[in-house]
Amino acid sequence: MSSLHGESYEPQSKFMKWFESRLPVMGLLYPTAVTFPTPRNLNYFWTFGAILMVFLVIQLITGIVLAMHYTAHVAFAFESVEHIMRDVNFGWLLRYVHANGASMFFLAVYIHIFRGLYYGSYKAPREILWILGVVLLLLMMATAFMGYVLPWGQMSFWAATVITNLFSAIPLIGKEITQWMWGGFAVDNPTLNRFFSLHYLLPFMIAAVVVLHIWALHVPGNNNPLGIDVKKKQDTLPFHPYYTVKDSFALIVFFVLFAAFVFYAPNYLGHTDNYIKANPLVTPAHIVPEWYFLPFYAILRAIPDKLGGVIAMFGSIAVLFVLPWLDTSKVRSARFRPLYRQFFWILLAVCIGLGYLGSQPAEGGFVIAARILTAYYFFHFLILLPLLGFVEKPKPLPASISESVLAKSAGAAGAESKA
Ligand code: HEM
Repeated sequence: MSSLHGESYEPQSKFMKWFESRLPVMGLLYPTAVTFPTPRNLNYFWTFGAILMVFLVIQLITGIVLAMHYTAHVAFAFESVEHIMRDVNFGWLLRYVHANGASMFFLAVYIHIFRGLYYGSYKAPREILWILGVVLLLLMMATAFMGYVLPWGQMSFWAATVITNLFSAIPLIGKEITQWMWGGFAVDNPTLNRFFSLHYLLPFMIAAVVVLHIWALHVPGNNNPLGIDVKKKQDTLPFHPYYTVKDSFALIVFFVLFAAFVFYAPNYLGHTDNYIKANPLVTPAHIVPEWYFLPFYAILRAIPDKLGGVIAMFGSIAVLFVLPWLDTSKVRSARFRPLYRQFFWILLAVCIGLGYLGSQPAEGGFVIAARILTAYYFFHFLILLPLLGFVEKPKPLPASISESVLAKSAGAAGAESKA
């Protein structure tokens, strides 16, 4: 299939003609970012990709400046963060934007993923696009985990200890792998150093994978709320100005939420124990990760066996890699899948429930509930989705996007003229 492209770029000024004939960068960008034919019915859930790109840039810029004042050494890391908060001009702002920016990044990515699940954006021909998305999620998780260790507070240290220790569950070579990761016999200075190095590196790898993600998006073009293919020219609009304006508006609204956290509740999403310097001799009463890891933490602790827990936790993401082949339905959008739609909402509730259970101590009823929800999570992907495609009777699909959009606006106009 040739890639879907908008009208090509015609340089207007003499300078641009000269430049373009030597480095045709506008010729590359224009049809993909300006005139790119975009389905005309995209709703606000389609703005989160752009929001994610902006947050990646925010994290990169604030992170690079923070790194200028941070010291990756166990004797100085905690104090250097306090120095950023107190002495560096606007250091408090930099740090709060970076820490809350990570939370916003995950909030946006979870909305982005559930949008994809609802509208079937992972289905053919967008499988590679989806798989690259799952790779991005893993890279984001690794980056966030290592970033959280850097302030070298109690939670930083104990989160690093708990998570790196998981690798010791690998049979035969687990202990060696864990010590190799630590760079010693416990989480210590070499561990902090390598985490800092990788925390700086991974976001650039994320940026590179985002380029592939967008490339893979631009070959088949966007999916849309109806989940049907673009059939005629009237089904699309040029990306600019229609979606540049829509994305910008959504971004501003999202920024209001972001600013509310940064300026009014900057530590709300964090843990108070991380304002206590790391102490390998004192274990906190409850070791809990950041909110965006809680569902995975619940799955990890739901399984009584350590190796089993690790497999289940990684399996909960691994299952997403094969999702395009687990879902056997020919219809993409949940709008036309009456049964899948119900199960989608149950899955969302289960994930939120797992998040809650991850924040609670691993005992009694909490563990039992986590086991039930974990089992349901895997049941949804491994059993329900393959079966649904055969038993569900989808609703009839509209002939084209433009027909559906026009039918809606004709209906609204009719209702208006009657009123
Ligand atoms: C750094 C993280 C990410 C960035 C910057 C990013 C960026 C984007 C952008 C700009 C788009 C097009 C606009 C839109 O549909 O919202 C997009 C589409 C898409 N992304 Fe992502 N994405 C990220 C992570 C993910 C993840 C984790 C997944 C899934 C696991 C994913 C799956 C998809 C899919 C399936 C589409 C096509 C949507 C459609 O047309 O229906 N992305 N992404």
